[in-house]
Amino acid sequence: MKIVLIGFMGAGKTTVAKILSYKLNLEIIDMDNLALKKSRRLSINEIFQKDGEAKFRELELEVAKGISNKDKVVISTGGGVVMNANIMNYLKQEGSVVYLKAGFDKIKERVMLKKVRPPLFVNIESAKKLFDIRQPLYEKYADITIETDNRNVDDIVEEVTKKLT
Ligand code: S3P
Repeated sequence: MKIVLIGFMGAGKTTVAKILSYKLNLEIIDMDNLALKKSRRLSINEIFQKDGEAKFRELELEVAKGISNKDKVVISTGGGVVMNANIMNYLKQEGSVVYLKAGFDKIKERVMLKKVRPPLFVNIESAKKLFDIRQPLYEKYADITIETDNRNVDDIVEEVTKKLT
């Protein structure tokens, strides 16, 4: 089994991945962490600042390639993977893509609570634009879509599990 969680920043991919990995006994793979390790920078923000977004996307592609034939995994992706068809091709191989869907207001609430904001979420207007551009892409790649607004993690995990097992 290979579960690939997609969705915008703050949609809860990391949290849901942790609980799914525990419940279904799957290895957890966090693409942001792996991309960061490959970069030898200290944070994703630093990669964006010093190397640029394009470099980060290259790292994401390498990571996606490297994990494409893994099994018994739950993969937490970065919110931007849907912008690159090559990355999605690697991720989709034998995997079920689960879109964790959240409204922009919820996303904004969650991201604003973070001490360090993701590099593409510094400005709310541009984040909203990105959200609107990506929405149809998440839908396009999703095998299943889970609404997450006003639901707790256990509830979300239960729905994913029911739909995939
Ligand atoms: C990004 C989302 C981040 C991270 C990077 C770029 C994006 O991941 O990959 O900051 O383009 O939406 P999360 O969705 O895990 O925050």
